[in-house]
Amino acid sequence: MPKKRCTIVVLAAGKGTRLNLDCPKALAPLNGKKLVDYTLKACTKLEENFDLTIGFVLGYKKEQIQSHFDSLYEEKNIKIAFQEQQNGTGHALQCFLNQFPETLDEDEIIVTCVDTPLITTEIYDLLVNSNKDYDASAISFMTTNPYGYGRISVGEKGFKIIEQKDCSEIEKEIKEVNSGLYIFKSNYLKKFINSLDNKNNSKEFYLTDLFKLGENIQAVNYKDEQIFLGINDLEQLELASKILNKSKVKELRSNGVIFKDSDSVYIEDDVDIQKGSIIHPNVFLYGTTKIAQEVSVEPGVIILNSLIEKGALIKAYSYIENAIVGEGSFVGPFARLRPQAELGENTKVGNFVEIKKSVLKKGSKVSHLSYVGDAEIGERANIGCGFITCNYDGVKKHRTIIGDDCFIGSDCQTIAPVEIEADSFVAAGSTITKSMPEGSFAIARSKQVTKEGRAKSFLKKK
Ligand code: UD1
Ligand code: CA
Repeated sequence: MPKKRCTIVVLAAGKGTRLNLDCPKALAPLNGKKLVDYTLKACTKLEENFDLTIGFVLGYKKEQIQSHFDSLYEEKNIKIAFQEQQNGTGHALQCFLNQFPETLDEDEIIVTCVDTPLITTEIYDLLVNSNKDYDASAISFMTTNPYGYGRISVGEKGFKIIEQKDCSEIEKEIKEVNSGLYIFKSNYLKKFINSLDNKNNSKEFYLTDLFKLGENIQAVNYKDEQIFLGINDLEQLELASKILNKSKVKELRSNGVIFKDSDSVYIEDDVDIQKGSIIHPNVFLYGTTKIAQEVSVEPGVIILNSLIEKGALIKAYSYIENAIVGEGSFVGPFARLRPQAELGENTKVGNFVEIKKSVLKKGSKVSHLSYVGDAEIGERANIGCGFITCNYDGVKKHRTIIGDDCFIGSDCQTIAPVEIEADSFVAAGSTITKSMPEGSFAIARSKQVTKEGRAKSFLKKK
């Protein structure tokens, strides 16, 4: 049997004035993504049941949203209607149906708002299944604080949705409210979409008035109020962020991740952590970070888009970005791994060490106060305290190569480009400007001059 055809229309033309941001509401940031990404993720589930078309109504700064679609969702073929003036949610839907009239030939039309990012796929299942014998359904929920939502006012013929600004004192007390998620048989919209008016206190064409016009309609009450949280101001955006974070922690915990105090830990949706890993307080895990089994992440650590392999220990206050930490390695405290830092197995990067675009192979150590940039360090090398790769000449970056089993004494610099071949030894305090062949020794520091009894001429007299 061919799938039924359905269009989901996402209303996203509003400026989101109450958010007080420069970007359009659809692009408000939420846990590493944009609001609109959540809407698109939830509605993809509908593709299993329907031959689905995704439509958007855009207005304020539509080019920005369009280019977000172009970069992330090119394959989805999103239909975009333009609403020049934001004359209300009903007007927004009218704009879509006028610009894509073929939508009314589909079987069903779902309408949702871009500002309800916590709506999950299971709600879409409920919506679709419950509308079988109705012409239109709206999902509602009960709340102790109905302020701002359309109230569901039940009458003899069905129900009406009464907007905040139009509520009487008695209606304001109604606790059942409209979620902003609806499904319509297309014939119902064909019949009523052009009958909306703006005779209300906001002088807007309300989509919700569609429920005042027909009879075979219903409000489907869903038990969970949190899922419908609407993002109208920054307090609600923060609340949504906390809710998403809590549910991510819960999911990871049920997979065997140990949290010392998850209230202070922030983990974005695409992060993955394996069993037996311990996450201490005040840890931030962002982007596509993957953490393997039995890793320990100490307090104050920030990790972005990085891979941490099994059994690694990331000590307190380290900052790791687009990097790889090999199995059983130690990093920190206070270490910084910048993009393309690749640490092999059982390596050690100690306190106040910065590594950028460099490979540190198996078993090597950079234990204290060093900068390693544009370098390749072989296996089992020991890099002493205070080492610096002088990689930048003011115009170009140059590479330093250090072979396997080298020993670099403390306070050395390599003036790149330079190569120190395997099994070499560099004496402390050396500035290496020329490459060294395998097994060689270099010392490059000025000779010490000691003059007996001369100190007093430099010391202040007591
Ligand atoms: C809307 C509902 C309300 C419901 C609440 C749920 C209406 C009239 N009211 O109120 O019953 O309880 O959502 O969160 O629908 N938009 C446009 N064009 C416009 C106006 C709005 O595209 O001309 C878009 C906005 O970008 C937003 C969505 O529609 O994504 C909802 O608009 P908003 O102003 O947030 O409506 P609410 O007051 O929250
Ligand atoms: Ca809203």
